[in-house]
Amino acid sequence: MPRVRLLAPLMLLGTACLVAPIAQSVPVATKAPKLEPVADAKLLMNGLAEPNFKGVGKLLKDRPKESEAWEFMRGRALLIAETGNLLMIRPPKAREPQDSWMTHGTELREAAVTLARAAGDKDYLKSRAAFAGVANACNRCHRTFNVASRVEPFPDEEK
Ligand code: HEC
Repeated sequence: MPRVRLLAPLMLLGTACLVAPIAQSVPVATKAPKLEPVADAKLLMNGLAEPNFKGVGKLLKDRPKESEAWEFMRGRALLIAETGNLLMIRPPKAREPQDSWMTHGTELREAAVTLARAAGDKDYLKSRAAFAGVANACNRCHRTFNVASRVEPFPDEEK
């Protein structure tokens, strides 16, 4: 049986490879899992930040009556907060603006968590104030990084 004869040394080799690291007590895993950005910031803006921001704005036009609406708003706020986390794993390449990017990402997360809490409490006035805080966090980062886009919390309302 020539096939068996051919395979036998290969199998031995395989066993040797498996045993070797343990015998030398060398760690087997060389690469630790880590966060890696795969989308660009623009996609996060168009796919996550903006739709959730607008969604909250619609829900806050009038005081929500249904429990589900508050729950939905809370979910949207938490997704905005997670956008802050996602932004922080893709800071600009140049070193100098990185700190400011991280600060703005953190501000967005915190403002959105405040909104999520107010929505969890079904507190209409607090939610509106917190939502304006989220808009400020968006705009502060845009101003710092010369992004032309300005977001408005309640675009249809008179100021
Ligand atoms: C940490 C910084 C930062 C924060 C916070 C931030 N953005 Fe942005 N945003 C950017 C950058 C950078 C761009 C430009 C992306 C590009 O064109 O590559 C951008 C672009 C945009 C755009 C335009 C996208 C396009 O198609 O050109 C919109 C809309 C937007 N952001 C919405 C928001 C909203 C809504 C929030 C808050 C909920 C927010 N952003 C928070 C950095 C930020």
